[in-house]
Amino acid sequence: MPELSPRLRGVVDALPLRPGLRVLEVGGAPGAAAREVAERVGPGGHVLVLDRSEAGIARTREACRALVEAGRLSTLCAPVEDFALPPGTAPFDLAFACRVGALDGRHPRLRGPALGCLRAALVPGGVLLVDTGDPLAVVRLDGHAPAAGAP
Ligand SMILES: C[S@@+](CC[C@H](N)C(=O)[O-])C[C@H]1O[C@@H](n2cnc3c(N)ncnc32)[C@H](O)[C@@H]1O
Repeated sequence: MPELSPRLRGVVDALPLRPGLRVLEVGGAPGAAAREVAERVGPGGHVLVLDRSEAGIARTREACRALVEAGRLSTLCAPVEDFALPPGTAPFDLAFACRVGALDGRHPRLRGPALGCLRAALVPGGVLLVDTGDPLAVVRLDGHAPAAGAP
């Protein structure tokens, strides 16, 4: 079971969490931060772990089994630059990402498509926080059109 490192605890502490919030973590495998976030948003909230790694998603589901079974945490295996929420999934209030190249500047070509997909997955005015700040920076999603094929 992945432990919450001091780095990730600092990130989770910096998120504007409250009970009932729906939170999307990009690149969240193997689930250490997501599990802590799920505890903080409580049974009325929800966390979706989006990760492109099938092995990472499998590890997340194993590490967070109780939360998955309780319907408080779910997973989606897809790249952030080319994903859409499954039909019927309510949009998310908040998204965050740590050490994900498509969002932290390492893969600039992917950034626009990733922001478009995230904009489509969040409520209007939803917030994206990325670990390019101290520890997090808010990324504006206005002006990023949904990626082709996204709802
Ligand atoms: C360096 S790890 C960081 C994991 C965790 N967020 C942390 O900070 O400890 C990056 C994670 O993001 C995932 N990832 C990288 N690029 C991605 C992308 N474009 N879309 C979705 N997941 C991605 C990887 O599969 C991996 O699980």
